[in-house]
Amino acid sequence: METGHLKIVRTVSQLREQIAEYRAAQETLALVPTMGFLHEGHLSLMRQGRANHDRVCATLFVNPRQFSPSEDLETYPRDEAADIAKLQVEGVDLLFAPNVTEMYPAGAATTVSVAGLTDCLCGVTRPGFFDGVATVVTKLLLQALPNTAIFGEKDYQQLLVIKRFAKDLDIPVEILGGPTVREADGVALSSRNAYLDAGDRTRAPELFAALKTAAASISARAQSPDAAIEAARQRIEIAGFGPIDYLDHRDAETLAPAGAADRPSRLLVAAWLGKTRLIDNVPVGDDGGR
Ligand code: PAJ
Repeated sequence: METGHLKIVRTVSQLREQIAEYRAAQETLALVPTMGFLHEGHLSLMRQGRANHDRVCATLFVNPRQFSPSEDLETYPRDEAADIAKLQVEGVDLLFAPNVTEMYPAGAATTVSVAGLTDCLCGVTRPGFFDGVATVVTKLLLQALPNTAIFGEKDYQQLLVIKRFAKDLDIPVEILGGPTVREADGVALSSRNAYLDAGDRTRAPELFAALKTAAASISARAQSPDAAIEAARQRIEIAGFGPIDYLDHRDAETLAPAGAADRPSRLLVAAWLGKTRLIDNVPVGDDGGR
């Protein structure tokens, strides 16, 4: 199907055929994997690809392997027509939108699993999640073999996990991060924000505000990291969040508990607001977050 400039393919062989044409024309390619319901955060990654490469390929696949049975696979927001319209506006060249059997044909039995980095944070509260992400992203990278694949820093642990297995498996693709895109009030854009009711939405900005204040306080040495995190925890709870899955100060590369002050570190949080689980993170030590 051809929709304006955007070409839409649904099988791996069509994807490879199209990308082979780009390669034959000596064109470089950026890949931007998504689960759809696109927002400015996703689109910023498309623009980053567009700025540095001849072609941009978006993928749209709500990956069942990264949802646990108790999670929201069935209700995950979907609007392919709106997504296609947005990709056209951004000048994206190619959309790969496979169905589940195309990605996981009967008999598929291989999982990509990253040790270490996945033992903490979302790896604890969402068992199996990173195996699902690592498996599908490995497949997408090998299917498309782009020059670069771009992922958001909003999902910071995910970005590190993807960088890790791409290196470990010698996947010849540069993995890049893009900055978190936020609403004017600081809320990180997320497809799952669609779940927030009006009351939750007014409370949501407190998550980033608390993180930013704590990061600034740690980098100014106004408070110990423990005290700053405790203050942030209280602020988030008072705002109406709960439970808090984690709120931690971690090494920005290894995700081990932050140690020496001269190493880059981040504050990372996952907390429930009503029926919605929100995650966010900020760097410690520069401007206190973006
Ligand atoms: P999804 O949540 O749709 O996000 C797709 C990409 O957009 C991810 O790299 C994510 O980090 C990035 N993103 C989301 N919100 C963002 C924001 N506010 N600012 C900047 N980037 C943002 O993450 C996934 O899908 C899946 O796990 C996937 C990697 C596609 C594998 O299935």
